[in-house]
Amino acid sequence: MQTGAIILAAGVGKRMKSKTNKVLHNLCGKPLVEHVIAACRSIGISRFYVVIGNDAEQVKAHLGDGYTYVLQEEQLGTGHAALQVAPYYQQEPHVFVLCGDTPLITGATLQRMQQIHREADADVTVLTAILPHAGDYGRILRDANGQVCGLVEAKDATPEQLAIREINTGFYCFRADKLFQALGQLTNNNAQGEYYLTDVIAALYRQGGRIASCLLEDVREALGINDRVRLAEAEGILRQRIREQLMLNGVTFLHPESCLIDADVTIGQDTIIYPGVVLQGKTTIGRDCVIGPYTHMVDCQVGNGVSIEHSVARQCTIGDNCLIGPYAHLRPQTVLAPGVKVGDFVELKNSQIGEGSKVPHLSYVGDATIGTGVNVGAGTIFVNYDGLNKHRTLVEDGAFIGCNSNLVAPVQIGRNAFIAAGSTVTKDVPADALAVARSRQENKEGWVLRRRQKE
Ligand code: UD1
Ligand code: CA
Repeated sequence: MQTGAIILAAGVGKRMKSKTNKVLHNLCGKPLVEHVIAACRSIGISRFYVVIGNDAEQVKAHLGDGYTYVLQEEQLGTGHAALQVAPYYQQEPHVFVLCGDTPLITGATLQRMQQIHREADADVTVLTAILPHAGDYGRILRDANGQVCGLVEAKDATPEQLAIREINTGFYCFRADKLFQALGQLTNNNAQGEYYLTDVIAALYRQGGRIASCLLEDVREALGINDRVRLAEAEGILRQRIREQLMLNGVTFLHPESCLIDADVTIGQDTIIYPGVVLQGKTTIGRDCVIGPYTHMVDCQVGNGVSIEHSVARQCTIGDNCLIGPYAHLRPQTVLAPGVKVGDFVELKNSQIGEGSKVPHLSYVGDATIGTGVNVGAGTIFVNYDGLNKHRTLVEDGAFIGCNSNLVAPVQIGRNAFIAAGSTVTKDVPADALAVARSRQENKEGWVLRRRQKE
């Protein structure tokens, strides 16, 4: 069924008390509105009309190209907002109307709505929910046959109507031609002086149109974010949903509640997640890994069979079977080939490390290219910064860097070269050479005894 989507996002969101527009607030790694868009995309919707007004430029800049932005200059109500789309609307015969601040909606629910809409050959299908306390939600009105015949806003409702527990979630699937025709005839004769989108339903009913409804199974999907209390509530719900999905896909969590996994993170089968793990952004983790305890990764690509504990990594690529941590810090543009070991208190930045190389203890490796089978001894520092510029170090395959060396960039260490412990290397070292760059040791026999005699 060819379907477009209108997303209403022109509101102010005053209760967020923020300089950031409400729909751009982050939930599990992406803005609220992008969750709504993702649910639509998951069922094949690709054309979006985003109605913007407040902070229009901010919303546009954030979402970028690929959307039809429709400006609603004055916020005169949800019906007025949807009507602004009419001049831009393209050919899809059906259209969802959704709110940008209801991020928990799922593709499965949208699909169920679509199915009911199609089977009933409806003009509109409304997503409803039954709540114990209907609060300020709009109420669903049904006729003698039980068919939806209208919606009434809480502010306009009679006490009898207020007692109705079936509410309007604010999600609809319309026949596009019927929607725009009815929107054109709306009036704002109501308690809030607004053009209500909800009035379209009664108008279509009066014209003999078919109104279908879809009852939401999990009412949490309709949660609208109005303030940061609701935002935190949504965060809790979505985090749990994400973890459960991963578990069903074969990921083990030893203490799920202590782990925060963003919506777009992927984790392979038989990976074990220990307590206190935070995986953010576009992080992908392969199969058979052991992550944590207490590891934080942002936008990292991790292969299979990797073990990483008590460590922090951002924008890194970690090859298969690497061993990381405890207490490693992997900074952006670090690329580890398979089988690399990075041990405790090691910081890596903008460095590529070849297969099977090891940086096991207490090192800083910045702006380096390290070949395969290299051993970087404990305490080695890659001296990459001269106070003005950063320089690179190249360490070729099989080299051995003795403990507590300084490699002062720019410098190259040749294939299989050997750096004596404690060296400060400022000149290139040829392949197969030994470099000793430290003062010679001098032993003064009997010196201690002579000193004691003077006392
Ligand atoms: C709306 C419904 C109500 C339903 C509830 C569910 C109407 C009249 N009422 O009420 O029946 O129970 O949602 O959450 O539709 N917006 C604009 N331009 C405007 C006004 C609103 O873009 O001029 C956007 C807002 O940014 C928001 C969405 O439309 O994303 C909903 O508006 P809101 O004012 O929150 O409607 P409710 O009063 O919650
Ligand atoms: Ca609302």
